[in-house]
Amino acid sequence: MRSIHPHKVELAQKRLFREALSLRGFVAGLLITAVITAAIILAQMYSLSVLIDAAFLNEWSASQYGHYVIILTGAVAVRAIMAWTDKWLGMKMSIHQKSRYRKWLLKKIHEIGPVRLKEEKTGELIGLQLSGIEKLDDFYSLYIPAAIRMGAIPLIIFGVVMWVDWPSGLVFMITGPLIPIFMYLIGTKAGDKIREQWGTFRRMNAHFLDTIQGMDTLKLFGREKSAERSINNVSRMFRVTTMRVLKIAFLSGMILELAASVSTAVVAVEIGVRLIEGMVGFQIGLFVLLLAPEFYLPFRTFGSAHHAGMEGAEAGARLFELFDYAHSETQKGENNPEMVPHHPTLIEIKNLIFRYPGSEKYVLNGINLTLQTDEVHTLTGASGEGKTTLMNILSALIPYSNGKIDVKGKSLAKLDARRWKSQISYLSQFPHFFPGSIEDNIRLGCQNATEDQILEASRLAHAHSFISELPNGYKTVMGEDGLNLSGGERQRIALARTFLKKSPIYFLDEPGSSLNEELEVALMRSIKTLAKNRIIFILSHQLQTMMASDRISILSKGVITESEPPNKVFAARDAEVIVQGVY
Ligand SMILES: Nc1ncnc2c1ncn2[C@@H]1O[C@H](COP(=O)(O)OP(=O)(O)OP(=O)(O)O)[C@@H](O)[C@H]1O
Ligand SMILES: [Mg+2]
Repeated sequence: MRSIHPHKVELAQKRLFREALSLRGFVAGLLITAVITAAIILAQMYSLSVLIDAAFLNEWSASQYGHYVIILTGAVAVRAIMAWTDKWLGMKMSIHQKSRYRKWLLKKIHEIGPVRLKEEKTGELIGLQLSGIEKLDDFYSLYIPAAIRMGAIPLIIFGVVMWVDWPSGLVFMITGPLIPIFMYLIGTKAGDKIREQWGTFRRMNAHFLDTIQGMDTLKLFGREKSAERSINNVSRMFRVTTMRVLKIAFLSGMILELAASVSTAVVAVEIGVRLIEGMVGFQIGLFVLLLAPEFYLPFRTFGSAHHAGMEGAEAGARLFELFDYAHSETQKGENNPEMVPHHPTLIEIKNLIFRYPGSEKYVLNGINLTLQTDEVHTLTGASGEGKTTLMNILSALIPYSNGKIDVKGKSLAKLDARRWKSQISYLSQFPHFFPGSIEDNIRLGCQNATEDQILEASRLAHAHSFISELPNGYKTVMGEDGLNLSGGERQRIALARTFLKKSPIYFLDEPGSSLNEELEVALMRSIKTLAKNRIIFILSHQLQTMMASDRISILSKGVITESEPPNKVFAARDAEVIVQGVY
């Protein structure tokens, strides 16, 4: 479990604050609301003090009361409207900011790419996206508005009190900052606990998702009880850490209330004494006394929003870490992306050397290979030799730095990766399906394909006959990751999707792996019809696939040991040996 450095949380808090302040419209709106609220509080308390003063000490006519009663009720109404506006602005700001972060996160996930993404726990990322960004909600809707109110309202009240009764102003000045100081002291302690809680929360998220995804495996191996126990453990830990955080939150709430009440009491005593001595008038004394709780209120609400602020900063730190990580990953080679050659017909790989970051082993150790059009080219080799790795490098899913890959004479590393990917129809070794119908899933290959094109692609993939036999045909809804279909059926739907995207380059990772021999032969017939003017590069261990290819290359120990037509390859070796991957 990676833990986040407190310093980073602090930086994240500053960054979140800066980003909030850059939303000028919202900040100005909140500030104006706060200033109006302060003016309203003054009017409200002033008229109240005058009314009480008059009721006790003066004899006023009804019309004289009338003015102040109108001001008082007006002030109460406007204050309610201001409170509503403040909430509304905070909420709007939070929604605006959350959707901005969500978009960023999606973009970053896209930039990191599927290969690097697998290294992170998917559960962790999903948790971060869904609940992490939600945790920013309170930061923007509570913490920032509270901070703005705290910056404006007490200052205005303080100014007026200094003007009408400066000794009380001095008491305000001394007691006011006590609350934020107490808050800061408790807050730093709470920070550690919140971090701990957030860590367990993330672990629980990742753990739960991984367990659910692997439920069938766990059941088959009779491990569901132990999985249940470990989920129990993780959730118990989450409960314990949450309770710790709550304890601190309650404690700090109590201290806040106490500090505010004591401070108000000090003001009351101070005014009382001076009233007896005749140093201050009743109405002014009452006015200042009524203002005292209003002076402390913004500190109190800020204090209780502090918890939300800390949680938001913690979530923000995680989020920014991912943003920055993705940023450093994508910077390489993007300075001057060259255009992708129109209709790439030749890919030359020269002395390509590659190892995964953090790994000692060189997966590819000097690959030399040429891919050209009008040729079905199959790469074979034992499992784990690096076939998929090579295809992912060619598809710009994994960056490379050692060796050359030229596309019609232009270096792949310098090409615009997005445009390059748009030239490739890629069949993954483990195709993924999304919630929706079979048609939706095929259509991912080409969003604006016509129904005829979908049928054509499905026929080519030998998927049409089984799909049309389903009760709902192409409208059949695919279950979670297509699990309501057989392995071979899923494979053919994935193939149809790949074929629908009519690209000059086809990269097919194990296209026949779940198909029986008859279907494999039929599929290769289809693939051969596509070869004209196209580069077709297949990864496979299967005999029929290799036999039907125009060229077979063998990857062994990080190098291509052979690249010849099948008859030559098979003449030199026993077919069975090649299929087994033992050379
Ligand atoms: N993301 C990764 N990080 C580190 N090592 C990896 C990663 N992906 C694969 N490897 C390692 O790289 C090697 C090559 O893997 P690759 O998936 O390219 O093999 P392959 O030839 O496609 O195998 P198969 O025929 O089983 O699909 C393996 O030893 C694998 O453990
Ligand atoms: Mg593979």
